[in-house]
Amino acid sequence: MFPELQSERLILRDFRESDFDVHNAFLNDFDVSKMLTVVPHPYTKDDGEWWFDHCRTTPHSEEINWVIDNGEGLVGVIGIRNVSTTPHLGYWLAKSAWGKGYASEATNMICNYVFNRMNALAMNTGLFTINPKSLNVLQKNGFEITGETKEKNRARGDIEMDYTTVTLTKDRWQSMQAIAA
Ligand SMILES: CC(C)(COP(=O)(O)OP(=O)(O)OC[C@H]1O[C@@H](n2cnc3c(N)ncnc32)[C@H](O)[C@@H]1OP(=O)(O)O)[C@@H](O)C(=O)NCCC(=O)NCCS
Repeated sequence: MFPELQSERLILRDFRESDFDVHNAFLNDFDVSKMLTVVPHPYTKDDGEWWFDHCRTTPHSEEINWVIDNGEGLVGVIGIRNVSTTPHLGYWLAKSAWGKGYASEATNMICNYVFNRMNALAMNTGLFTINPKSLNVLQKNGFEITGETKEKNRARGDIEMDYTTVTLTKDRWQSMQAIAA
């Protein structure tokens, strides 16, 4: 069964066929894809079909991808891969949904899921170093910088760019929750 999650403002849910056109339109925005590692630009219908099929057929023991729904429909996507080892987080929001706290709220929901329900010991991710908005989302949720490396950026034609790696341990997450309570 799909692990749907809910907060005050957001539902993190499975993809529906009715999300297809809006998903593809939002991801065909270079301002979104230029900060992601593997999303091409332009983003075509075939790319969307590949992604929806990937989400449908990949076991949740390997990867889980949630639609971020604000009650009016899809406004972004958040997911974890390497589910059975150390989960690796990824997310994006449609530009029209930036600046409302949705990414921080959705990240908080995934941290809760990963540490309190899956019992993972740590979660990793990374961001292109020119992406302070994403670092802000991650640091607000307790992630700490672990290093600098290089990653290819598909939307920009596979150029290598500086990439900051970050991690959040279960211990740190739980102590932050205890302070907030
Ligand atoms: C990265 C990305 C998701 C960040 O989006 P964002 O809108 O800046 O992040 P949030 O949704 O958490 O919103 C945070 C801002 O909303 C504001 N906000 C407004 N209302 C709010 C509310 N009710 N609650 C919380 N924050 C609120 C906050 O002030 C906050 O900004 P601040 O921390 O600078 O003060 C977005 O820029 C994006 O999708 N970029 C392209 C793809 C990408 O970079 N993905 C990540 C790859 S690593």
